[in-house]
Amino acid sequence: MSHPLPIRFRDTDLEALARQTGRMALLAEPGSTLSPAARRIDRAMKGALSRAVASDAFDKLKPGEALEMSFPSGLAVDVLLLVRLSKRADIAEARKAGGAIGKGHGTTPCLILGESHPRAADIAFGFALRAYEFNAHKTGEKKDPGAVAMMVADAEKVAKAAAPMAAVAEGVFFTRDLVNEPANVLTTYDFAARLAAMQELGLDVEILEEPELLKLGMGALLGVGQGSESPSKVVVMHWNGGKKGEAPFALVGKGVVFDSGGISIKPAAGMEEMTMDMGGAGVVAGVMRTLALRKAKANVVGLVGLVENMPDGRAQRPGDVVRSMKGDTIEVINTDAEGRLVLADVLWYAQERFRPTGIINLATLTGAIIIALGHENAGVFSNDVPLASAFLKAAAAEGEGAWMMPMGDSYDAKLKSRIADMMNVGGREGGAITAAQFLKRFIKPDMPWCHLDIAGTALLKNDTSLAPKGATGWGVMALDRMIRDRFEKG
Ligand code: BES
Ligand code: MN
Ligand code: ZN
Repeated sequence: MSHPLPIRFRDTDLEALARQTGRMALLAEPGSTLSPAARRIDRAMKGALSRAVASDAFDKLKPGEALEMSFPSGLAVDVLLLVRLSKRADIAEARKAGGAIGKGHGTTPCLILGESHPRAADIAFGFALRAYEFNAHKTGEKKDPGAVAMMVADAEKVAKAAAPMAAVAEGVFFTRDLVNEPANVLTTYDFAARLAAMQELGLDVEILEEPELLKLGMGALLGVGQGSESPSKVVVMHWNGGKKGEAPFALVGKGVVFDSGGISIKPAAGMEEMTMDMGGAGVVAGVMRTLALRKAKANVVGLVGLVENMPDGRAQRPGDVVRSMKGDTIEVINTDAEGRLVLADVLWYAQERFRPTGIINLATLTGAIIIALGHENAGVFSNDVPLASAFLKAAAAEGEGAWMMPMGDSYDAKLKSRIADMMNVGGREGGAITAAQFLKRFIKPDMPWCHLDIAGTALLKNDTSLAPKGATGWGVMALDRMIRDRFEKG
């Protein structure tokens, strides 16, 4: 499992600068005077640093971007990173600056001169997020990453501010690892075992196996998994850090460990990407981990439906009719629209058993949401304005793209079936919306609910300022913040 790099905070020691090896990063702003540490470095470099800060190249940088100086004479480091960052930088700029430093992090030590920057902890957080690597399946000698230290004006204070951020980074990494993991490794068994291991952190974890799911009547979920050699499972994670007996908030995730499409099989090209189809469950798991690590004062229950969608002699066929736990019957027109079948039963179970104060579900649900929003925003669907607003606000604060999508009865009408209560597809047009309408049929009338379609944001082909290419962990930071703001204030 990947853990964030520990960053040691130290009080500033100007004497140590000339001796530092590896990499060093300092913060500067065009046109403003150099900090004491920068002045010391400038002297050692015989003025080259002030020339760099006054250069066009530095002036052209955006806030949070860095200029790299190799083998600076007068210093012992191999790389000096000049990071453009103002003292008035917002959280996003500070994280981006940290990310620019974390990006190049290898096996050599790194010293960040945080000085008296008010967002030093955010810079460290950005570093940690960007320095993530998934190398579980790379053979060859594994070298330890270089030690990271940050010099700041008040080390104790910054370390205290950074502690809860470390819990968030750990949750994000947990999600990224799960999403990056191939499906022969992350089977339903393996996924459930990784969640069960979180009991160490004080979470209660229950695993519901197929006989139990059958008894509960989860015919929609079980139909999806019936072609797989790996049994379907529902895992329930409880974090009870809030008031005793108070109803929890529920997080529900789609955990399709591999989506071949089933009998409605997907084309070969790109099918390997469907190892990420458990991304919703991955985010739920990452948030639960963060809540436990930072001992959140909130009651939250996380539920994930773990299944594998495979073609087989026993697999579900197009045209089959299944009965959901709610009792509604579903005509399975396309076995590749499987996520909604899984969620239908887990959403219903979550409401019946926990009577939560609200539900947010996450799913890599539709290709259509990628056509609508690209990879920059997840689709937000909701029946409750306050809940959706709270989520959107938290997502904006965390820099995680999220965009409100419409819903309505005329979309729902497209799900009408000739022989059952509904079909599992509503046609190509507005496909992300008809999928959301399908889920809404399994939400009780007064239940505040929000569906996040993360098909476009869970995994990226290019790196970003806070993540290498691959799994992003999108949503962990926003949900953790929303829970903090909604349940832990006052
Ligand atoms: N897991 C896919 C959606 C998906 C597509 C996720 C691309 C990530 C990237 C989902 O199960 C699916 O196959 N949806 C179909 C629905 C259709 C058959 C109505 C789709 O989007 O094509
Ligand atoms: Mn599918
Ligand atoms: Zn899927």
